[in-house]
Amino acid sequence: MWGGRFSEGPDAIMEEINASIDFDKKLYSQDIAGSKAHVAMLAHQDIVSGDDAKAIRDGLDKIQAEIEHGEFTFSRALEDIHMNVENRLADLLGPRAGRLHTARSRNDQVATDFRLWVRDSLDTLDGQLAQLQFAFVEKALEHAGVVMPGFTHLQSAQPVTFGHHMLAYVEMLGRDRSRLVDARKRMNESPLGCAALAGTSFPIDRHMTANALGFDRPTANSLDGVSDRDFALEALSGASICAMHLSRFAEELVIWSSAQFRFVTLSDKFSTGSSIMPQKRNPDAAELVRAKVGRIIGALNALLIVMKGLPLTYSKDMQEDKEQAFDALQNLSLCVAAMTGMVKDLEPNKKELKKAAGSGYSTATDLADWLVRTLDMPFRNAHHVTGSLVAMASERNIELHRLSLADMQSIEPSITEDVFSVLSVDKSVRSRLSYGGTAPQNVRKQAKRWLKILEKDLADQQ
Ligand code: ARG
Repeated sequence: MWGGRFSEGPDAIMEEINASIDFDKKLYSQDIAGSKAHVAMLAHQDIVSGDDAKAIRDGLDKIQAEIEHGEFTFSRALEDIHMNVENRLADLLGPRAGRLHTARSRNDQVATDFRLWVRDSLDTLDGQLAQLQFAFVEKALEHAGVVMPGFTHLQSAQPVTFGHHMLAYVEMLGRDRSRLVDARKRMNESPLGCAALAGTSFPIDRHMTANALGFDRPTANSLDGVSDRDFALEALSGASICAMHLSRFAEELVIWSSAQFRFVTLSDKFSTGSSIMPQKRNPDAAELVRAKVGRIIGALNALLIVMKGLPLTYSKDMQEDKEQAFDALQNLSLCVAAMTGMVKDLEPNKKELKKAAGSGYSTATDLADWLVRTLDMPFRNAHHVTGSLVAMASERNIELHRLSLADMQSIEPSITEDVFSVLSVDKSVRSRLSYGGTAPQNVRKQAKRWLKILEKDLADQQ
C-alpha cells in the first residue's frame, strides 16, 4: 500500500507484532458499512464519479458476501481489516478501487468502525439486561411473600422476603442499563472524515456520512475524533460495574445452593456433576459468572493504561484498544445470558429459607421496636433490654419466642403477652412497610411497577 516509499518488506516479527487482522476482522461489516457511506458521500459531492461509486459499492457488497460465506482469505501481510478489504476491492475493480480512500485515513476509519461495533454491542446488551431484569421481576412476583434471612456481614440480620432480594438486583441492573445508554448517547458521533488527523481539503459532507451510519452528528474536532477512545472506556467501565453486580449474585447462588445453606436449587441445566463424587451438583455457571468480572475489569484497566500519556493524535498503541474490549463485551453478554437462564430456573426452598430466617435472633429488632412502640421506651434502652433477652435465649440455646413471658418479665417487668405477636418472621416482614422496605405488599407493588417498564422496553426492542 505504501510501496512508493519503501525498498524492503517487513521483518517476519514486524508482521507479527504489527498485524491486527487476526482480531479486527470482527469489524468487517462495520468497515464495509463505513466505506459504503463514505463513497456515497464522495459521489454526492462530485469527488468521485457516480460510476466509480457504484462499482465500489457493488465490490464492497461482494466482499461482504465472500467474508460471510467463508470465501475470503485474510492476509496478515495486509495488516488489518481496512487494508484487507481495500486490497480485495483492488483485485475486483483494478485502479478505480483506489478512489475509495480519498479524503479518508485508516485513523478515522478504525475510530468509526470500532465505535460502531461498541455501539452495536451496547444495544445488544441493553436488550439482554432487560430480559434478565424481567426474569428477576417474575421471580420477585412469584415469591413476594417468601421469607428468608437478610444478612449483614453474612450474619443473620433481619428477615426479608425473597422477592425483595430479587428486586434489589433489578434496581442494580436498571442503573447498569442507564449507564450504558448514557455512554451510547455520548459516543454517538462520527469520526469519519477527520481523515488522518487534520481533516481534508476535499469538500466532504461529514453530516451525510454521520447520518448514514446512524450517528447523531460528526465529531467537532478532527484531532479529537481520531484519538478519542472514551467511547470504549465508558462502555468498559459500565460493563465492569455490571459484571461486578452479576458476580455478587453469582456468589450468592454459590452460597445459597451449597448443602450448608440449601436456600435454592439451581436447575440441572446450569449445574455440573463431578467425575468422582456422585453426590455433587456444582454451580459452575455461577462460578464462571463470578470469575469473568476479572477479565472485564482487566480490559478496562488495560485500555486506560494504553491511553494514558498518549500524545495527540493517533499512535499505534491504540491498536491495542480492540482485542480485550471485544473479549470483555462478548463475555459480559455471555454472563448475562447465563444468569438469565439461572434466574428463570431458580427454585427457592421455602422451608429452609423460613427456618433460616428465624434463626440467629433475626427478630430481635422487632422486639426492640415493640418495646419502643408499646412501652414508649427510648430505642437505646430497648436495644439494651433486647440484648439481655437474646443473651438469655442464647445461653439456653433456644429461639427468642421460646422464652416464657415470666422469663421476659424477669428482665423487663412491663412486657406483656402481646410481645409474642411480633416475634414471628412473617409478622416481621409484613411490618416493614416503609417505602423501599421488604414487606410483601411493597414487593408486589414494586414488581408490578418494573413489569410495566420492562414490558414496554422489551416491546420497543422487538
Ligand atoms: N489497525 C490499526 C488500528 O487498529 C488501524 C489504524 C492504522 N493507522 C495507522 N496510522 N497506522 O489502530
